[in-house]
Amino acid sequence: MDKLHIRGGTPLEGEVRISGAKNAALPILAATLLADSPASVGNVPHLRDVTTMIELLGRMGVSVTVTDKMRIEVDASTIRECIAPYELVRTMRASIVVLGPLLARFGKADVSLPGGCAIGARPVNLHVDGLRALGADIHIENGYIRARADRLVGTRLVLDTVTVTGTENLMMAATLAEGETVIENAAREPEVVDLANFLISMGAKIHGAGTDRIVVEGVKKLHGTSYDVLPDRIESGTYLVAGAITSGHVRIKGTRPDHLDAVLVKLRDAGATLGIGPNWIELDMRNRRPRAVDIRTAPYPGFPTDMQAQFAALNTIAEGTAAVTETVFENRFMHMLEMRRLGADIRIEGNTAIIHGVEKLTAAPVMATDLRASASLVLAGLVAEGTTEVLRIYHIDRGYECIEEKLAQLGAHIKRIPG
Ligand code: EPU
Repeated sequence: MDKLHIRGGTPLEGEVRISGAKNAALPILAATLLADSPASVGNVPHLRDVTTMIELLGRMGVSVTVTDKMRIEVDASTIRECIAPYELVRTMRASIVVLGPLLARFGKADVSLPGGCAIGARPVNLHVDGLRALGADIHIENGYIRARADRLVGTRLVLDTVTVTGTENLMMAATLAEGETVIENAAREPEVVDLANFLISMGAKIHGAGTDRIVVEGVKKLHGTSYDVLPDRIESGTYLVAGAITSGHVRIKGTRPDHLDAVLVKLRDAGATLGIGPNWIELDMRNRRPRAVDIRTAPYPGFPTDMQAQFAALNTIAEGTAAVTETVFENRFMHMLEMRRLGADIRIEGNTAIIHGVEKLTAAPVMATDLRASASLVLAGLVAEGTTEVLRIYHIDRGYECIEEKLAQLGAHIKRIPG
């Protein structure tokens, strides 16, 4: 298993380009199943999760062609079977997003239940209940969600928890349903909007994406399209925190500042000076120690749970004490325990971590447990005295394109050790 070696202590300086958003690319690739002619998706990040989604489509018999610049052409007309097997779903929970498209387009889907996860229980009951309300016949059998339907029929769905992939699955299913579907308490994440825009470009009739009420008027069929995935707001936020935690000066380009409001507020509170253009953000924290900032995660437009661990890392060396509260997932504090091994002063009380900033962290081997947790350990390693070894970085490769190259470009001393 590869690991990363990071020698801390260098303020980062320079410019980095942000990749396409993983959490938009995955549902968009699944949505290509809905089209009756080939679809082409650009700005797809080169990530392990994307490779898994391509493999999943390929196993079904769908033809997928990857061009050198990460443009992916998908032709679903060659599909042989509507199955998402356990061996792939267990490596990527987001595989669940093929459920809605398969059912809506082909009338059947056998998708393995994802099972446990390092950050919380993460059930998919709302996906299943919503599809049942649209008329699907669904049984859980041998660890699989077995769903069957003739044509789905639109209805009013009220989600009792805000769910991102749940909203996406139901919105995709509704595009080919008969009549109107209303999704109340829908997720408002930019990735949901990007997926809606992709579906609209294939001929879907969708209104209200980006609000908590999405209305889908079903159509008989959808056609191929050409579309570029939006920039990754979590990758953007992670590089900005990398600049802040090292008292550096970084500029990220090819991003969408309007998707980062809650994160930028916290970076300013931490003492960063920000310059913002139409598609770039510059952060200056030179010669300053960050100030502690309280964090409370919430669905968009609140502070993203996917940025919680990175801000926890920032708080470990900040001036003052911060409370970091996780409200979206019930077990997303594993990184806190690893950061303690670097000398962080963290006390956990239920879903809140109280972090007293220390003057310095000291290097140690640490273990990544999930994607964002591993990013936070890399950030901590950038400031820890000595060489921090981050193990199990396959988690990072699921969601950060060329992280060591991009950080090295900003002057970090970071090396991948193949193993
Ligand atoms: N939930 C239910 N029932 C459901 C679905 C969700 O109770 O049927 C609960 C979950 O257990 C959780 C909450 O609802 O407590 C929100 O979960 P959500 O469904 O929104 O999460 P998700 O769709 O599985 C996506 C991202 C995650 C991100 C969350 C929250 C993708 C592929 N994944 O997950 O991204 O943390 O939304 O914003 O879009 C990551 O990229 O590292 C990552 C984990």
